[in-house]
Amino acid sequence: MKVLVTGVSGYIGSHAALELLRAGHEVSGFDNLSNSSEEAVRRVRELAGKPLAFTKLDLLDADGLKTLLAQGFDAVMHFAGLKAVGESVEKPALYRRNNVDGSRNLFEAMQKAGCRRLVFSSSCTVYGEVKKNPVDEKHPRSAVNPYGQTKLDVEDMGFALSKKDPRWKIALLRYFNPVGADPSGRLGEDPRGTPNNLMPFVMQTAVGRRDKVRVFGDDYPTPDGTCVRDYIHVTDLALGHLAALEKLDSFAGAEAVNLGTGHGRSVLEVLAAASKAAGRRIPYEIAPQRAGDAAAIWADPALALEKLGWRAERDLDAMCADHWRWQKDNPAGY
Ligand SMILES: NC(=O)c1ccc[n+]([C@@H]2O[C@H](COP(=O)([O-])OP(=O)(O)OC[C@H]3O[C@@H](n4cnc5c(N)ncnc54)[C@H](O)[C@@H]3O)[C@@H](O)[C@H]2O)c1
Repeated sequence: MKVLVTGVSGYIGSHAALELLRAGHEVSGFDNLSNSSEEAVRRVRELAGKPLAFTKLDLLDADGLKTLLAQGFDAVMHFAGLKAVGESVEKPALYRRNNVDGSRNLFEAMQKAGCRRLVFSSSCTVYGEVKKNPVDEKHPRSAVNPYGQTKLDVEDMGFALSKKDPRWKIALLRYFNPVGADPSGRLGEDPRGTPNNLMPFVMQTAVGRRDKVRVFGDDYPTPDGTCVRDYIHVTDLALGHLAALEKLDSFAGAEAVNLGTGHGRSVLEVLAAASKAAGRRIPYEIAPQRAGDAAAIWADPALALEKLGWRAERDLDAMCADHWRWQKDNPAGY
């Protein structure tokens, strides 16, 4: 298929583009480079040994999107967006404009070009305050911050589009916690500034860029008192996108599917696995709980297996080994 990848130089988009190329798809991508480097695209080409057309373009450039989509694509994988929860609380209007208005521009350009196959990066954040684990796709949705609200809004746009025009086929993939890197060590997560997520913070500490990890809370009702999340290897996540793309025509309009492993791991377990991978003790200190952090959340991944024939294969040790290889070989990022 001829696939357009938005946010192609970002962490997940670059890994998805690589797996698409490896599977024989023709890939083009765009990004405004607000949170990424074009070097990632160069490395995807190098790893795949195949061309990957890149355009510097913003989701807010509606005319630019229409021109690009007029090239004719079979499907779009939509990763582009802002994703920092804390920043979204400070700048809710920016998040709304970029993620929601930007996605609307994209969907309008797709509609105009007659491209109605879409795979969208949603998130487990749409489950809001989790009532029981594991979380399946029927769990009620709610937003606990402006970032989460943008995911709800884009999901709703997807549901509305397919209701109005059943030719739309949309996979709303709800990711749990993506970590890891391509095993080559050439591609990885390169957050600007202080990382918001645990794994990049842990790995930047292991490589000496940061003093220590602050573990927010050891008094949660979890086995070791620290927060539990469902970490998923970014390559497994990318392969989940491929599986969704291949099964998209069997979708009844827009449908949500969890992408997680089904296993919750605590912060201390991650630190232990990361220390093992890095071959050194990663310093940490226990800090007070952070407002808004849920004690535990992990996925029920049964629907992904049933609908997409996909399941996550890589364990926490592989996630840490691959993330560490990327961090060690690229201590300052791209
Ligand atoms: N990483 C996670 O933990 C996680 C979890 C759940 C969902 N997601 C979602 O997955 C998607 C990809 O996340 P990621 O971790 O790869 O983040 P990322 O920041 O590495 O990638 C997103 C890319 O989108 C680009 N971008 C942002 N706004 C844009 C705009 N207006 N026009 C064009 N490009 C724009 C950025 O420059 C960046 O390269 C995001 O939508 C994110 O919300 C991520």
